[in-house]
Amino acid sequence: MKVLLTGGTGFIGSHAAVRLIELGHDVEILDNLVNSKVEVLDKIKEITGVKPGFHQVDLLDYEAVREVFKDGGYDLVIHFAGLKAVGESVEKPLLYYENNIEGTINLLKCMRESGVKKIIFSSSATVYGDTGETKFTEEMPVGVKISNPYGKTKYMIEEILRDEAVADEDLEVVILRYFNPIGAHESGLLGEDPNDIPNNLMPIIMKVARGEIKELKIYGDDYETVDGTGVRDYIHVVDLVDGHLAAIKKMKPGVLVYNLGTGRGTSVLEMVKMFEKASGEKLPYEIVGRREGDLGEVIANADKAKKELDWTALRTIEDAMRDTLNYLSQN
Ligand code: NAD
Ligand code: UD1
Repeated sequence: MKVLLTGGTGFIGSHAAVRLIELGHDVEILDNLVNSKVEVLDKIKEITGVKPGFHQVDLLDYEAVREVFKDGGYDLVIHFAGLKAVGESVEKPLLYYENNIEGTINLLKCMRESGVKKIIFSSSATVYGDTGETKFTEEMPVGVKISNPYGKTKYMIEEILRDEAVADEDLEVVILRYFNPIGAHESGLLGEDPNDIPNNLMPIIMKVARGEIKELKIYGDDYETVDGTGVRDYIHVVDLVDGHLAAIKKMKPGVLVYNLGTGRGTSVLEMVKMFEKASGEKLPYEIVGRREGDLGEVIANADKAKKELDWTALRTIEDAMRDTLNYLSQN
């Protein structure tokens, strides 16, 4: 297939590019490089022997996106592009609504114009909001008490995709709700390399390990969890990408929704211990108050993806930590 990856130079998109190329697909990337680097294309080539076609285009630039689609001949779009910093989205909601939602609308308009009928969208566990649940199935309500504009854009885009699939009955949509992606490519060439100060746990642990941040601040130890600290479902980025590959095979007109997670929860303190084991170093930390908008425990029920996609996450958190350390030691 000829596949366009929006956001394909980013953390998850670059790993997807590698897997798709390895399977013989023709991959092109559209990215404005707001949160990634053009060198990623060379890294993809180093791993696969193929440098994907690249369009440095902003999804907000409708005419430029149209140009990309004009000669594209794409069979499938995987839509990774978006801004994803939760804290920033609270400070700059309009930036997030404009970038993520208008960007998606432009993309869908161009797909419509050029007759591209398949799209996979990177959604997030955050769409489930604060329902009092800890383990989420795809059938549970979404859009309830989402605590930040970033999460709301994900929910709204899901709704836009559903409406578009009603209006165009040939459209094939897969919504993938990612839990907590971590890890890096085993080659050490690709990984998570945020341009700004990270706010997710793994990138912060890595910065503490490298002495760039003095200590990890653990946001609360009074949740109803195994040790009081927050519990999440961390999934290796390569497993996550394999979930996309499994979903491609099942695409059909209409909307399919899958959680991509492991179904297992790990607390912040457990993550600290695993990191210390993987690296052989002590990780300095301090327990501080809860972070606003945080939930105690968020775990995927991953049964639907297992049953319908025949996909399940294979890699462990230790694998992810080893791969991330390897990536950081090379970069
Ligand atoms: P990332 O920031 O590494 O990649 C996103 C890419 O999109 C970047 O390369 C960025 O330059 C590009 N981009 C942003 N706005 C753009 C625009 N207007 N036009 C063109 N390109 C644009 O993020 P990631 O971790 O790879 O995440 C990929 C997708 O998965 C995002 O939509 C994100 O919201 C979603 N997601 C990520 C996580 C996570 O923890 N990483 C969790 C759930 C969902
Ligand atoms: C966060 C976002 C969520 C987004 C997801 C993936 C919030 C409120 N939620 O979720 O919308 O979809 O990232 O991008 O920001 N932790 C610490 N210290 C830190 C950082 C994190 O203790 O310095 C804890 C958190 O409290 C949480 C766990 O580590 O219990 C994981 O945090 P994080 O990586 O930010 O992911 P989420 O909270 O799941």
